[in-house]
Amino acid sequence: MQLRADLMVLALLTVTAEAGDTVCQAYGTKELPQFSKGGDINIGGIFSFHQNPVAVNPTLQVNPGALQCEWLDPGELQYAQTMIFAIEEINNSSYLLPNLSLGYRIYDSCPSIPVSVRASLALMNEYEKSQSCTKTATVQAVIGDTTSTSTIGIARTMGPFHIPVISHSATCACFSNRREYPSFFRTVPSDLYQNRALAKLVKHFGWTWVGAIRSNSDYGNNGMATFLEAAASEGVCVEYSVAIYRTDPRQWFLQVVDIIKRSTSKVIVAFADGTDLEILIKELYRQNVTGLQWVGSEGWVTYRYLASHINYAVVQGAVGFAVPNMVIPGLGTFIAKTRPSTQPGNKGLVELWEMTFNCSMTTGSEGSSVRGCTLTESLRETDSRYTDVSDSSLLNNVYKAVYAVGHAVHLLTTCQSGQGPFENNTCADKHNIEPWQVLHYLTKVNFTTKNSEVVFFDDHGDPPARYSLVNWQMDNTGSIVFETIGYYDASRPEGQQFEMKEDVSTVWAGHQTKIYLQ
Ligand SMILES: *[C@@H]1O[C@H](CO)[C@@H](O)[C@H](O)[C@H]1NC(C)=O
Ligand SMILES: *[C@@H]1O[C@H](CO)[C@@H](O)[C@H](O)[C@H]1NC(C)=O
Ligand SMILES: *[C@@H]1O[C@H](CO)[C@@H](O)[C@H](O)[C@H]1NC(C)=O
Ligand SMILES: *[C@@H]1O[C@H](CO)[C@@H](O)[C@H](O)[C@H]1NC(C)=O
Ligand SMILES: *[C@@H]1O[C@H](CO)[C@@H](O)[C@H](O)[C@H]1NC(C)=O
Ligand SMILES: *[C@@H]1O[C@H](CO)[C@@H](O)[C@H](O)[C@H]1NC(C)=O
Ligand SMILES: *[C@@H]1O[C@H](CO)[C@@H](O)[C@H](O)[C@H]1NC(C)=O
Repeated sequence: MQLRADLMVLALLTVTAEAGDTVCQAYGTKELPQFSKGGDINIGGIFSFHQNPVAVNPTLQVNPGALQCEWLDPGELQYAQTMIFAIEEINNSSYLLPNLSLGYRIYDSCPSIPVSVRASLALMNEYEKSQSCTKTATVQAVIGDTTSTSTIGIARTMGPFHIPVISHSATCACFSNRREYPSFFRTVPSDLYQNRALAKLVKHFGWTWVGAIRSNSDYGNNGMATFLEAAASEGVCVEYSVAIYRTDPRQWFLQVVDIIKRSTSKVIVAFADGTDLEILIKELYRQNVTGLQWVGSEGWVTYRYLASHINYAVVQGAVGFAVPNMVIPGLGTFIAKTRPSTQPGNKGLVELWEMTFNCSMTTGSEGSSVRGCTLTESLRETDSRYTDVSDSSLLNNVYKAVYAVGHAVHLLTTCQSGQGPFENNTCADKHNIEPWQVLHYLTKVNFTTKNSEVVFFDDHGDPPARYSLVNWQMDNTGSIVFETIGYYDASRPEGQQFEMKEDVSTVWAGHQTKIYLQ
């Protein structure tokens, strides 16, 4: 860690003296954001627009340049648009930061640690103004990332510079360690609570002999380790525990299917990302492995795209904890109205557009068989994941994270002189805000959203842990629905944390209406 922090400082302050003139230049390839707009106060964003970095051959005979990414994830573009939506709302608001305009710079993380560290450095170094050495303009806070692994890269890079990082989705319990992550906050509860709740859930239904599957990532490995600990103390035994990852060879996924087929346990606890589990579910479906009771973590349990109608047979009746769903008024329309831009630093929607409408945004590609995009294409008519806001639980977390920054800066700018929180009761200089001052105010925010949700962070940067317990069902039109069958609230006293809803029916694996007992 020490080594890494030193490297960052080096990277930030590469100053080249040329013939007496001092020219400031950010180290490395200049990277442009996917989305950007300048304002008085700028907020950074890092999301996993692509699901995988392209492997390069590290021969280093030429400058390897920026890492390339593959597998566009439209769901991640939704996070970015939700962030932009919230920023515009605050920017338009007459009660929050009335006299300041907000801006943003949003980068892709792939999600991998090297790419997310590069994005973090790009956010710290204002690219446009890098010709002047007077001041390094930086973002006041960063929203992101989706996976715990790349968030570790971001939070570790930003931490030594006291730049707040607020994740909407990184649940690894590891982030609650204030010494390791001094500037980290999140609007999603820590897995610490979920692990305990999952162990209690499994025990509650009498499933004492289970198999365990996890994503081979910080999320899956940490989550599973603490689940196994909690499960052991509840008297739950684990028959097998295997890790999967999206880039594993098919051979490994087939081996995992064999392990599941040979096992005697009928309940599978999966601590995984939807992207990883999707591959396994497809293989299980191919081999007709159905009728198992799945118990899931929030990483996949409301991931609609895991189960097409066919694959549904595999995970039918799954139960697990999810971040409660919310409706954000106006967001759906906002996203449906977006159009791609070819401006440098704002090309984030080009790939999606070209993919969805089979057209090309680059002009002058004559002779190419692909037609040009007209920008009159309408997303409303496509059945696109990008415009589907029916599950807005994590979008709501992005929304809350942006508002938390808005409220923190608002507290800062409305500080009464002589009664400020800083040395000698001073306030921050409103015209020269520093991220560490925003960090201070983030620990003080306590506000209520339009949805009547109270937002504040505890001493570890964690929000209150509330989940809904969802059950995968199919409605009579054949669509998959996540029926909320109960709630879990970690802030309640022991014994009263679980609450099952009385008036809903639960569907278990194999169409049974009764719990599968072993
Ligand atoms: C914020 O408001 C200002 C002034 O109304 C406007 O110029 C700017 O484009 C807005 N920024 C965003 C991100 O909407
Ligand atoms: C902000 O105000 C502008 C101009 O009135 C409007 O076009 C835009 O839709 C508003 N944005 C949001 C998110 O409310
Ligand atoms: C915003 O600016 C207006 C005009 O400059 C000023 O009258 C008002 O007091 C300012 N509001 C805040 C909260 O600073
Ligand atoms: C899958 O299993 C079901 C029920 O056990 C059986 O009816 C069906 O024929 C099987 N299909 C295949 C392709 O093995
Ligand atoms: C995209 O369009 C080109 C030519 O316009 C056509 O050859 C190609 O098959 C199309 N691809 C898809 C996936 O529709
Ligand atoms: C705070 O007050 C003390 C005593 O007057 C002074 O020495 C110190 O420089 C002040 N600190 C700041 C940050 O103004
Ligand atoms: C947040 O504010 C409400 C009312 O303003 C108060 O009751 C509550 O205790 C506060 N919560 C925290 C954690 O400060």
